[in-house]
Amino acid sequence: MFVRNAWYVAAWDHEIGRDMRRRILLNEPVVLYRREDGKPAALEDRCCHRQAPLSMGKLKGDIVECPYHGLQFDPSGACVRVPSQERIPPSAKVRSYPVIEKNHWIWIWLGEPAQADPALIEDFHWMDDPGWGFGGSYLHVEANYLLLVENLLDTTHLPFLHPGTLGTDAFAKSEFEVTREGDRIKVARWLMDKPPAPFHKQMGGFPDGMNVDRWQIAHFGPPSFVKLDVGSAPAGAGARQGDRSKGMNMWNLNAITPETEKTAHYFYAQAYNFKLDQRWISDLVKAQVTRAFLEDMAMIKAQQINMDLGPVPVVNLGQDKAWVAMRQIVARLVSEETGQAKAA
Ligand code: FES
Ligand SMILES: [Fe+2]
Repeated sequence: MFVRNAWYVAAWDHEIGRDMRRRILLNEPVVLYRREDGKPAALEDRCCHRQAPLSMGKLKGDIVECPYHGLQFDPSGACVRVPSQERIPPSAKVRSYPVIEKNHWIWIWLGEPAQADPALIEDFHWMDDPGWGFGGSYLHVEANYLLLVENLLDTTHLPFLHPGTLGTDAFAKSEFEVTREGDRIKVARWLMDKPPAPFHKQMGGFPDGMNVDRWQIAHFGPPSFVKLDVGSAPAGAGARQGDRSKGMNMWNLNAITPETEKTAHYFYAQAYNFKLDQRWISDLVKAQVTRAFLEDMAMIKAQQINMDLGPVPVVNLGQDKAWVAMRQIVARLVSEETGQAKAA
């Protein structure tokens, strides 16, 4: 079960052009393309005649032609031509979804179209802010999407799963504070006056022997967004009190879209506010992050395989507080939506 009345990321902007791209989102087949005016469009990728994928057909102007018997659909999903007859049956249509291009992502609303308020799109402004650069990518996830959200809210796995990439034993064992505001969760972790992590030292240009105050503050927004505010500043320079100006800051930006109950689409980027004149940094931060994420992908895939063997009792620990709350929030939103649908 998924939260349907929410904006999800369907694609990177550069993935969608004047050809048709099929993607399964929340168990629905969707075809994405750009209209002649450049605006993105999304239709159900399942012809109302015999369920052929429209994405295998032709894009003629703004019209999509089914590859099987040539029915044509406009961007609203209405059938505008049936080659074999004059009459177009009123029920001949496919679903059309609200889509918006924002912050380099194509956002889609698969729920009730009347509720698709653009103001509800999660904030990822860093990817359009001249004060920031970013490197971003996509991974296909072979596990339920919440296993990935859980993984991103959990830093206690770092020394075990990522000893060679994020190997931050002391950091991962440091105290953290979980706070909640409505359906948003914040997990804040500070490590004060310690030598910088190698990647932070290199990127921040901290001189040998200088200690730093380091932070990692995870922000969860429903249904499946996690933004990690991470960085280091010279020890005692006031970063924890709010002055980040002397440090290096990165935002790790994550949008996870369910594909099926057991697979997901993972869109992520790493934004940074240093060395903006050096474009190679984008590739470096992307490569560093991707390397660690591939270790996570292997783990959550392995968890999913075990989970598929059947339910067993599991133990929750004190360290799991944030993602236990996250799962409660998502479950509540799903049940509220299901309740509304039943009442309607
Ligand atoms: S299946 Fe699309 S026209 Fe027949
Ligand atoms: Fe990880």
